[in-house]
Amino acid sequence: MNPVNIIVLGAHGQVGKAFHHIHQQYPKFRFLFLDRKSCDISSKESIENLRTFHPNIIINCAAYTAVDLAESEIDKAKLVNTEGSRLLAAFAERQKASLIHFSTDYVYHHNPGRALKETDETNPQSIYAQTKLEGELAISEIVDKYLIFRTSWVYDQESKNFVTTMLRLAESRKSLSIVSDQIGAPTYAHDIAVAVLDYLDRKNGVIGHNEVGIYNLSNQGVTNWFEFAKAIFKAKNIDIEVKPIKTSEYPTPASRPLWSVMSSDKLNKELKISLPNWKDSLHNCLKLVVNNL
Ligand SMILES: NC(=O)c1ccc[n+]([C@@H]2O[C@H](COP(=O)([O-])OP(=O)(O)OC[C@H]3O[C@@H](n4cnc5c(N)ncnc54)[C@H](OP(=O)(O)O)[C@@H]3O)[C@@H](O)[C@H]2O)c1
Repeated sequence: MNPVNIIVLGAHGQVGKAFHHIHQQYPKFRFLFLDRKSCDISSKESIENLRTFHPNIIINCAAYTAVDLAESEIDKAKLVNTEGSRLLAAFAERQKASLIHFSTDYVYHHNPGRALKETDETNPQSIYAQTKLEGELAISEIVDKYLIFRTSWVYDQESKNFVTTMLRLAESRKSLSIVSDQIGAPTYAHDIAVAVLDYLDRKNGVIGHNEVGIYNLSNQGVTNWFEFAKAIFKAKNIDIEVKPIKTSEYPTPASRPLWSVMSSDKLNKELKISLPNWKDSLHNCLKLVVNNL
C-alpha cells in the first residue's frame, strides 16, 4: 500500500504544533509540516507549490485568529479565513485530496436552550466569525471530500492562550477578575490532533462519502472562563483571588457568544470520535507546562 501523504498547514499554531508533537505515532502516514513562511494559504502560488508532495490529505490549521484585531483588519481576516480557505479548497479538489479544516463555535452565537448542533442556524457576530463561516461555505461548495471541525476555547501548554496567560498573570497579580457568563468547553489542542489522526488511522486515510461534512469538536463537559481559571490555579496550587465578572464589564472590540456549548452527538455517532472531559485534559496539559512561560 502506498503511504498516505498528509500536509499540515499552519504548523506553528497551537493545533498545528499538536499534530507535529504526535505525528510519529502514525507510521501509516507521510507528513509534511508547513508554517506560514513555507506556505501562505492566502497565496495561490504558494499553495500550488504543495503539488510536488502529492498530498492525499491536507489538514489546514492555518487561520487569522486575532479575534479582536479582526474588527479593524477586516481585509486581512477575510484574505486568510475566507479566500485562503477557498484557494485551499480549489487546490484540494484539483489534486483529488481530502481537506480537513477547523472552524469555530463563534459561528453559532445563539442559545437554543440546549447544546448547539451542526444543523442549528449560524449567526456570526464578529468579523472573525463571519470570515470563518465564509471559509466553511467555500470548502463545502468546492471540495468533494472534506471534514470541517468547529472547535472552541483552544489551548495548549506552550502557546499564548488562556491557560498560559493565567499562569503568567499569577506571577505578578494577587487578584484577577474573569468573565463568568460565557459558557462553553475549553479544548486541548492535543486532543484535537489525536482525534483527527486516530480517525484517519482507522480509516487508512480515506474519508467516507457519508462522513463528509461539519462536526462540532470540543472537550466534554461545560464550564465558564471564571471556573476554568479557578481550575487552573487549583491544579497548580496557586493561591490567588479570582473574582467573577460579566462580559459587559470586560468590553472587547469583537463580540463573544455567551453560549458555546456544542453537542458531540454527530461526532460520536458518525466519526466514532469522542474527546475527554475538559478537566482531565487540563490536568494533562498542566503537567507539561514549564514554569518560565
Ligand atoms: N484558538 C481558539 O481558541 C480557537 C477556537 C475555535 C476555533 N479555532 C480554530 O482552530 C484553528 C487552529 O487555531 P489555533 O488556536 O491553532 O490558531 P493559532 O495558534 O493562531 O495558529 C494559527 C496559525 O496560522 C498561521 N497563519 C496565519 N495566517 C496564515 C497564512 N496566510 N498562511 C499560513 N499560515 C497562516 C499563523 O501563523 P503566524 O503565527 O505566523 O501568524 C499561526 O501559526 C483555526 O482554524 C481557528 O480558527 C481556534
